[in-house]
Amino acid sequence: MTKASKILIVGSGGREHALALRLLACASVGEVLVTPGNAGTEASRVTGKLLRSAAGDALEVAARASPDLVVIGPEVPLCEGLTDRLIAAGHAVFGPTQRAAQLEGSKAFMKRFAARHHIPTGRFHVVTDMAAAERAIYDFPAPPVIKADGLAAGKGVVVAETHRGALAAASGMLSGAAFGAAGRTVVIEERVQGAEASMHAICDGERFVLLPAAQDHKRIFDGDRGPNTGGMGTYAPAPLVTPALERRIRREVFERALQGMKADGHPFRGVLFAGLMITAGGDLSLLEFNVRFGDPETQVLMAVLEGDVAEALSAASRGELQPELLHVSRDHAVCVVLAAAGYPDAPRTGDVITGLGDAESVTGVTVFHSGTKLQGSQVVTSGGRVLGVTARGATLDEAHERAYQAAELIRFEGRQFRRDIAARALGSS
Ligand code: GLY
Repeated sequence: MTKASKILIVGSGGREHALALRLLACASVGEVLVTPGNAGTEASRVTGKLLRSAAGDALEVAARASPDLVVIGPEVPLCEGLTDRLIAAGHAVFGPTQRAAQLEGSKAFMKRFAARHHIPTGRFHVVTDMAAAERAIYDFPAPPVIKADGLAAGKGVVVAETHRGALAAASGMLSGAAFGAAGRTVVIEERVQGAEASMHAICDGERFVLLPAAQDHKRIFDGDRGPNTGGMGTYAPAPLVTPALERRIRREVFERALQGMKADGHPFRGVLFAGLMITAGGDLSLLEFNVRFGDPETQVLMAVLEGDVAEALSAASRGELQPELLHVSRDHAVCVVLAAAGYPDAPRTGDVITGLGDAESVTGVTVFHSGTKLQGSQVVTSGGRVLGVTARGATLDEAHERAYQAAELIRFEGRQFRRDIAARALGSS
C-alpha cells in the first residue's frame, strides 16, 4: 500500500471501531471510513488522520470511495458473498470468499471439514429429520450439544442438560420454528467440558500469523450465569493457552485448516477465529470456526498487536503475508462491555451516555463504541452492547484496574456490566 492509504471497514460494532482506530495508527494509513459505523466513527481527526462513517450499501460506498483495501467485519456479509462481489468490482478485500466463509456459515461443513483434515473436534452427527435426530441424540451417553447448521445471530447452539431437552431443541430447529432455514439441518455433537479460548490467525491462503489467546465471557451475569450474549468482556493474553498448547493449536488447527481449505479448492484469506475448548487435562477440541475477528476479542487483540496491521491485512489479501510485519507486545489488555438495559432479550435504546471523556482520560484506556449513535450533540444508546471499555497495562492486573476505573465513570440509565472480567487470570502476569 502507498503512504496515506484509504481503508474502508464494513460493520457497525465495537470490533469495527477498534479496527478503525488501530488501522489509523498505522504509518501506511491516511484515512479510514466505516460503513455504516456508529457514533465512535463519526467524522473526526485521530492523530491528524480522517475517520468517518459512510451510510449506504457497501458496494456503492466502495465504488464512491475507491479504497485501497476493504476490511469486512461481520459474518453475515462474508457468508453472503460480499468479498466475491467487491473483488469482482475490482477492489482489494481482506475477508474470505463465500465458499471459504462456509467454515462459519455451515456448522455441518465445518465439522465434516475438521474430521476430514484431522483437526481435533468432538464426535458428531448431521441430521435433517427427527427420527435421525433421536438416534443421534441417544448415541451419546451424556446429553449432546444441538447446533443449527446456518447462521443464527449467535443463538443457534443449545447445551441441553438432558436427552429430552436435546430432543426438544432439535425439534424446534428442524421444524423451522426456531431459526427458519438455518435450523433445517442440525449438528448433534458430543459435549466437551473445559474452558474456552479464542484463537485468531491472520491468513493469506497459505501462511498465517497467530495472535495471542483471548478469553471471552459469554453470559450476561457474573460467575457465568444467565443467558448467553454476544460477549460481555475479554482479556488477552489468556494464560490458559500455554506455549506448548499454542504450538499444538498452530499445528493441529491452523496449519491443517489452511492446508485443507487450499487442498479443497477454497484457500482461506482473512481472519480465521477458532473457538476452542481446553479440557482440564490440557487437551484441545475445536468447537467452531468463525471467519472474522471476534467481538469483543478484537478490542483486546488490537491493543496488544504491534506493527503495521494495515500492511499485514493488505499483504494477506494478496496472498503475500510476511509474518514479520506483526509483533505481539508484552502488555496485557482487558475489555469490559457496557450493555443496555434489557440486554440480551430486549435492549432499550435512546438512553443518553455521559462520562466518555472522563473514562478516556484514564491512562491506557480507549472506549470503543458499539450500539451508539449521535442525537444532536449527545451520544445515546442504540443497541444491546453499547461500549467496550478497553485498557492496556504492563500486567493483567494493571489493565484490569484501569478498565474498571474507566467503566465506572461512564453513565447511562440501566447500564449493565460484569464485575468479573479477567478475574480468573488475575495475578498470573
Ligand atoms: N465474541 C465471540 C464472537 O465474536 O463470536
